[in-house]
Amino acid sequence: MAKYTHDVIIVGGGSGGLTTAVGCAQLGMKTALVDKERLGGDCLHYGCVPSKSLLKAASVYASMRDATRFGLPGADPGPVQMSAVNARIASVIAEIEKHDSPERFRALGAEVFLGHVVFTSPHELVFNGEQTLSAKHIVLATGSSPRAIPFPGVEEAGYITNVDAFSLPELPRRIAAIGAGPIGVELSQAYRRLGAEVTILDIAPQVLPREDADMADVVRARIEADGIRLRLGAKIERVEKNGSTKTIHLTTSDGATEALEVDEILMAVGRQGNTSDLGLDAAGVTVEKSFAVTDSKLRTSQPNILGVGDVNGKYMFTHVAGAEGSVAVRRIALHAGGSMNYAHVPWVTYTDPELASVGYSETSAKAAGIDYKTIVQPFGSTDRAQAEGETEGRMKILLDRKDRVIGTQIVGYHAGELLAPALYSVGKSWKASAIMSPIYPYPTLSELHKKAVSSYMGPRLFNDKVRGILRFLFRYRGNAGKAEA
Ligand code: NAI
Repeated sequence: MAKYTHDVIIVGGGSGGLTTAVGCAQLGMKTALVDKERLGGDCLHYGCVPSKSLLKAASVYASMRDATRFGLPGADPGPVQMSAVNARIASVIAEIEKHDSPERFRALGAEVFLGHVVFTSPHELVFNGEQTLSAKHIVLATGSSPRAIPFPGVEEAGYITNVDAFSLPELPRRIAAIGAGPIGVELSQAYRRLGAEVTILDIAPQVLPREDADMADVVRARIEADGIRLRLGAKIERVEKNGSTKTIHLTTSDGATEALEVDEILMAVGRQGNTSDLGLDAAGVTVEKSFAVTDSKLRTSQPNILGVGDVNGKYMFTHVAGAEGSVAVRRIALHAGGSMNYAHVPWVTYTDPELASVGYSETSAKAAGIDYKTIVQPFGSTDRAQAEGETEGRMKILLDRKDRVIGTQIVGYHAGELLAPALYSVGKSWKASAIMSPIYPYPTLSELHKKAVSSYMGPRLFNDKVRGILRFLFRYRGNAGKAEA
């Protein structure tokens, strides 16, 4: 009789869990995939997919009002009906959800269990209090949830998080976003463009505090131009509720006190790992600050249990969860070993303008004590940006002492799409000159890559010393009477 009910059990049906389940099932392992509710994870239901859909709606609405900038008649589209916007978001989710349906995973060979599981040992879980599932390998991929800071009075006043953000029955008239990270800034810009009065509060002195200040500043300028008010370096003292009004009492960066009255508060101050209620003690999995501790091979403190995706608290991005899922498949199904290399994780904040990053930024290079040079190229230097009316922004390339590319950040129109060549130049440590060699189609924004490197290489190639050598060669060849071959 088999020792275990399955070869592998995957707990959590988000990006990391689904990638692991597909790989293991297709490679012939007896696979159990468990989720507490439904497959798809936070990214599909409350994160990447609905937020990009909401941002698109907000951007179209803003463009309608902004049409005169392009010589078009001005439009007054009237107020936004959130029910219609929400319906479109739901339809986008429904379309994408088809790829994540339990039927699809069953067809691929996985057994899907929807309900609650609790670990009773490192190899055993009890499903819905009645059925024991066991396996040699277990993958913990339970994701993360919004974290809340217990400011005095905030629980009583109430607040929303990204979980509520895409199904608001009506757009609140006045919104305060606590947190100027990607969630706070993306949602704030969307709500502002859809018509709300928005204030962003952050204890940090800049928006998107993980980014280089000069890059984040381009986003700051645009969201302020949208009409978002910023309270950076602010300390929230307490929150009060009077009727339907929520008042946030804060101390501003210059020490003044302020009472900010709003109708809704968006809490966007980071995430916590989904590790409670799972019996992880019984499994022997160490949890620190709500996240399961893992090594670069994704092993938790219980080596047969891997921690994949947000639950390990390392890089909370869907694409990283997917990459970790692939490593888990290599380790479990192919016995091929493998570990995660987090050095080249890209990410994008999907504000207008987008801010995209891969490899070292100036901030992280300084922190690591790395000697670097920067090339900065403004968006407006491409003819396409001029034609599009999207000249705000810049590309920044970081080079090491040998002119190898160690990082790229782009802030500007479609920065996320423009990042792709940098995934190679950074990932493969290309010399800067290699970026210049292809013929770039004209007029595209991607010419920025070439222009950036040309602006750096130009003075190296075309200077008095090189000109002197070339003049000498011309004269020598001419005097020797040699013809061109
Ligand atoms: P975050 O950790 O990126 O930002 C939280 C913000 O809250 C920070 O700016 C921080 O300074 C601020 N904060 C902390 N304590 C505070 C206090 N007491 N008062 C005021 N402000 C305070 O968290 P966020 O934006 O919730 O995102 C969560 C995760 O999801 C991150 O890992 C993020 O990278 C990821 N994410 C990625 C997206 C993308 O790639 N486009 C989009 C959304 C989220």
